[in-house]
Amino acid sequence: MMNKIEKKISLFDKQKDQLRIKIKDTDDIKILDEVFDIATLKILYEFANKGIIKEMVGPVSTGKEANIFHAIGSERELAIKIYRISTSNFREMQNYLIGDPRFSNIRHTKKDIVFAWTKKELRNLKRAYEAGVRVPKPIIAHKNVLVMEFIGKDGIPMPQLKDVELDKTQRKKIFNKIIEYIKLLYQNAKLVHSDLSEYNILYTNKNEYPIVFIDMGQSLTTDHYHAEEFLIRDIKNMVRFFNKQGIEYSEDKIIKEVRSK
Ligand SMILES: Nc1ncnc2c1ncn2[C@@H]1O[C@H](COP(=O)(O)OP(=O)(O)O)[C@@H](O)[C@H]1O
Ligand SMILES: [Mg+2]
Repeated sequence: MMNKIEKKISLFDKQKDQLRIKIKDTDDIKILDEVFDIATLKILYEFANKGIIKEMVGPVSTGKEANIFHAIGSERELAIKIYRISTSNFREMQNYLIGDPRFSNIRHTKKDIVFAWTKKELRNLKRAYEAGVRVPKPIIAHKNVLVMEFIGKDGIPMPQLKDVELDKTQRKKIFNKIIEYIKLLYQNAKLVHSDLSEYNILYTNKNEYPIVFIDMGQSLTTDHYHAEEFLIRDIKNMVRFFNKQGIEYSEDKIIKEVRSK
């Protein structure tokens, strides 16, 4: 009898031409074991069969709830976000799902909650994208796997805002862009990001789109009973981050500005 990991590796071996995943060392096997359960592998194979994924390249980030992988798609580089079912904080997820009319019918098993969460992130990204907020272009989601545009080049993601040094003019420009995006989200997409911070903003330094909002699983519709509270928290987070760098912004003024038509 093969053990669990051996089974997975043999499954990988069989399919590796399709996904071109290379197992380099024990670290890879550990990630493999945690993230790629058989069901998740199947989804990736399906995406490969459909021509969405050409090659799974490697891990980009291991977060609390999800792993991000870099992959090659048919036209562009991809980021694949895989929510882990076993280690997800599904109780907290549940709190965000309750009160969102789009997800009032989901069953409340751990799996269903994670699947609904993944779909929610896809839909939130779509709404944001359509409202003109620069986010990774969402491509497809199935069960716990979300495929989106990779923000970066050759497998190197653009840095998080927390890791870039900005001069005073850039800082102002970036702050204004952030407020513009919060407002577009709120007024046009009818969404509140709800986890906005220097961690969930990537910095591209491009003229047209200098920043990209990411990580929208927890974003809420503006009719959610926590929406106003989270809008204020998002704004406070950003004001705190920028004021630490010697710029004086008034929270209240910005909250008013975001709410005004
Ligand atoms: N579309 C993307 N393109 C490039 N890098 C990404 C993308 N999405 C996420 N990342 C990288 O992975 C990290 C974690 O992603 P995030 O969606 O914030 O997940 P988490 O829930 O773990 O915080 C990001 O900070 C970023 O470095
Ligand atoms: Mg994040």
